[in-house]
Amino acid sequence: MKIIKNIRELVGIVPEGVLRKTGSQMDEVVSIQDAYLTIDNGLIMDFGKKGECPEAGDSDELIDAAGGMVMPMFCDSHTHICHAGSREREFIDKINGLSYEEIAARGGGILNSADLLHETSEEALYAQTMERVNEMIGKGTGAIEIKSGYGLTTVDELKMLRVIKRVKETSPAIIKATFLGAHAVGRAYTGRTGEYVSLVCEQMIPAVASEGLADYVDVFCDDGFFTPAQTDRILETGERFGLVPKIHANELACSGGVQVGVAHAALSVDHLERTTAAEIEALKGTATMPTMLPGSSFFLGMPYGRAKDFIQAGLGVALASDYNPGSSPSGDMRFVMALGCVKMRLTPDQAFNACTLNSAYAMGISDIAGSITRGKRANLLITKPLSSIATIPYSYQTPFIRQVVI
Ligand code: NIG
Ligand code: FE
Repeated sequence: MKIIKNIRELVGIVPEGVLRKTGSQMDEVVSIQDAYLTIDNGLIMDFGKKGECPEAGDSDELIDAAGGMVMPMFCDSHTHICHAGSREREFIDKINGLSYEEIAARGGGILNSADLLHETSEEALYAQTMERVNEMIGKGTGAIEIKSGYGLTTVDELKMLRVIKRVKETSPAIIKATFLGAHAVGRAYTGRTGEYVSLVCEQMIPAVASEGLADYVDVFCDDGFFTPAQTDRILETGERFGLVPKIHANELACSGGVQVGVAHAALSVDHLERTTAAEIEALKGTATMPTMLPGSSFFLGMPYGRAKDFIQAGLGVALASDYNPGSSPSGDMRFVMALGCVKMRLTPDQAFNACTLNSAYAMGISDIAGSITRGKRANLLITKPLSSIATIPYSYQTPFIRQVVI
């Protein structure tokens, strides 16, 4: 058993069985002042007021929080960190006035990453991905969903997913894998989107499923990428092969993607920079978690998701980094939390829930992560002394982590 003592505030306590927060529940962050917490076998065993702390002699390791806070590590439910190299060239094109869509339409963007990935060995891809995972852990993220989608051929999609599987097996973070063969139309299929969709459904999904390489299936359902009808076909096929849907929708236009996602009981619908009342209505009463990615709004100069309206309508909201080389080259969830507060007007408590329990839900792990709950994985951050959790998004660049326990 490990004991963490001298915790000024233990933050993010959630009762067992509560898997997400919706509506006004997003305002609740329960904490205990002057607390201790014990860990057994990597799981949270117990916690309470410091007066009830077990004797140090009963533990194998005593960790002194020295008056800092203890909170669950962030969960990042949407990333593309399995990619080769970077795309600074396009960064400059964007500065000079080209839009994300224009770069993609010229055959750049995701297709550039696919070319680079094709030339990169599995070993090198693994090393690059692990470097990003370790960077994210250092910034406080303890669970990461990683998508394929820079392969765009059966061979290269499998290569990506095998790398992600190896990351799952070798990293201390909780990893979930998502098959995103329909991220863009592979070069060999330019102008033949329907045939590419058939390749995804008839060849890629069966191959991915037969090796057990993915937990989820995702589609970029948006202007210039895949239509709702194509998305419907891919999600339906994925479900038949045991893959739970997640979706990219409403980033570039009101694409109808949210509605297709909801029709397939998607675990999450992600991006949502452009939504109307219809998307909110479609999500009401469902188990689907709306997930917003303010890092891409920031980097591409797009509108921010209307998180407050979603919450007002009684929905939950999750935030994730979208860490990828094209629209969000950062996996810093603390910055995501700050953007949630500054740009989306979420309160720090709402942003905290969006980056912990709700983002855990959006990647299907809120039964084992995302809060301080007995029996959950002890993926914890010990902070430097902070006056409240509002300090995290407020002093958004001052280092705040004393120690990561993962
Ligand atoms: O979530 N929108 C689609 N996919 C990624 C971007 C991928 C890329 O540009 O490499 C996203 O923003
Ligand atoms: Fe994405």
